[in-house]
Amino acid sequence: MSSCQGCAPRSQLPRMSKPFYLTTAIDYVNGVPHLGHAYEKIIADVIARARRSLGQPAYFLTGLDEHGQKIQQAAAAEGKTARAYCDELAGVWRAFVEKLELTNDDFVRTTESRHQQVVQSILTKLHAEGHFYQAIYEGFYSAKEETFLTEKDRRPDGSFDPAYGEVIRLKEENYYFRLKDHQQWLISYIEQNPSFIQPEHRRNDVLGFLKHDVLEDLCITRPAARLNWGIPFPVDRDYVTYVWFDALVNYISVPAAHGDAVVLKALGSQPSTLNDQPSLWPADLHILGKDILKFHAVYWPIMLKAMGLPLPKQILAHGWWQKDGQKISKSTGNVVDPLAVIGEWGLDAFRFYVVRELDIGPDGNWTDAGFRERYNSALADGLGNLLNRSLSMLRRYRNGVVPPQSNVLAPEAEKVASETRTLLEQNRLQAALLSIWSLVTRANQYVEQTAPFKLAKDPTKSAQLDEALYNLVEVCRVLAVLLWSFLPGTASKIYAQLGLKEAPDTFSAARWGGLTAGHAIGLPAALFPKRED
Ligand code: MSP
Repeated sequence: MSSCQGCAPRSQLPRMSKPFYLTTAIDYVNGVPHLGHAYEKIIADVIARARRSLGQPAYFLTGLDEHGQKIQQAAAAEGKTARAYCDELAGVWRAFVEKLELTNDDFVRTTESRHQQVVQSILTKLHAEGHFYQAIYEGFYSAKEETFLTEKDRRPDGSFDPAYGEVIRLKEENYYFRLKDHQQWLISYIEQNPSFIQPEHRRNDVLGFLKHDVLEDLCITRPAARLNWGIPFPVDRDYVTYVWFDALVNYISVPAAHGDAVVLKALGSQPSTLNDQPSLWPADLHILGKDILKFHAVYWPIMLKAMGLPLPKQILAHGWWQKDGQKISKSTGNVVDPLAVIGEWGLDAFRFYVVRELDIGPDGNWTDAGFRERYNSALADGLGNLLNRSLSMLRRYRNGVVPPQSNVLAPEAEKVASETRTLLEQNRLQAALLSIWSLVTRANQYVEQTAPFKLAKDPTKSAQLDEALYNLVEVCRVLAVLLWSFLPGTASKIYAQLGLKEAPDTFSAARWGGLTAGHAIGLPAALFPKRED
């Protein structure tokens, strides 16, 4: 057994509880990171941070989807090998993840050998067990979407959706995965597990599709002669693996690479490679956009069933962003560049806007005016102003020293903390922000009601002034804890300005009374300077 100085042998490590395992879609490496990608990764990050803050370990996976025809063609157009092209772009995406300050635990690239090996062992096993067959296909094909189309995909006027790009006729032999056999099973599973696909209307869409359409078997190869940028199909080297079969497997290939016992056992791996920590699989939450729900809610569960693996607990489909009521599109220039917005307004202003503006589920619309308005009203006039005046008054009237505890705002703070906890446990992020802001608004009203600036002028009102000041600085502290998952930088700044050394990353610290009499706060500094330009 390998050992390191000071490391406890594995068997002596404390067994942790099962981490809350959450994933995002893995982005196509050849795209430019845009608002939609940023939104999805931020909601996943908020959920991961929230779980950890609530005391549950979380494991957050994101990464890149790097194979397929589009990438092969884009690399060729730039005169590069596909590998060199992907390596270059992967750097851009990693920088993006850092810029968003995501707390992901791993970053997968589908070109990594740890991933490819798992894909190949799954294919070998499923093939040996008779889940695949070979057949000749003759019909329509969209190279852009790398998908076969049927008559059903035609629009009423006979044309195909422009999203498919050029549609050609193709005759080709390939391997197919027997999906059809599992259609009834999947319908029953979705019916018996109401929270498996969320939101509700998306679940109904999937059920409607499964009940009214016959599921076509899934073509899981492409001939290497026309597409070589993919994972070689292990049972027949004339083929590469279809990019979606490859990409979906990332959700288990990373756990497998870390020795996940549940996944490795299903793959028939040797026990020596297993670790004795709780398994990550099954995932607790797959987060993805509405456009790729079918892959996750139909193909993926059937793939897992065939592998003998349990299904993820929940698939959560978010909506799509538009800008100014129009589709976001590079070709028309209608884009929001997250990095430019972050450069101009700060990361937390961006994180706040996307989570506050769009509930997880419906589609959203970005407008620059809407962004500015939320920044000025909620962040500058709301939270920022509250912190600034609370701290400035404490410095001015009490030399920055916290007065004795007072509990006027305690019931409201505790109510909001308990609501926020419940909403975070349900991944209802927008509702949690609304609840937190009800406390911001209440605290700002409290400043007007108590008017500490007037109390300070009357020495007989000293006890009332102490009371008002305590409630204000303590409410700011509680807010920092509640906001940690959403606005981690801001929450840390609030704690620092309050003179607190620890991080506001533990939800239980939201309990009223954390600031004690005699504690000296730090210097106030504007969190979100008002922008009139
Ligand atoms: N590579 C596949 C996913 C494989 S997952 C095993 C893919 N990549 S993507 O780059 O096209 O999209 C990545 C994610 O971004 C998807 O969940 C997609 O829905 C999301 N979005 C892309 N554009 C979006 C918006 N305009 N708005 C919100 N999310 C959007 O699909």
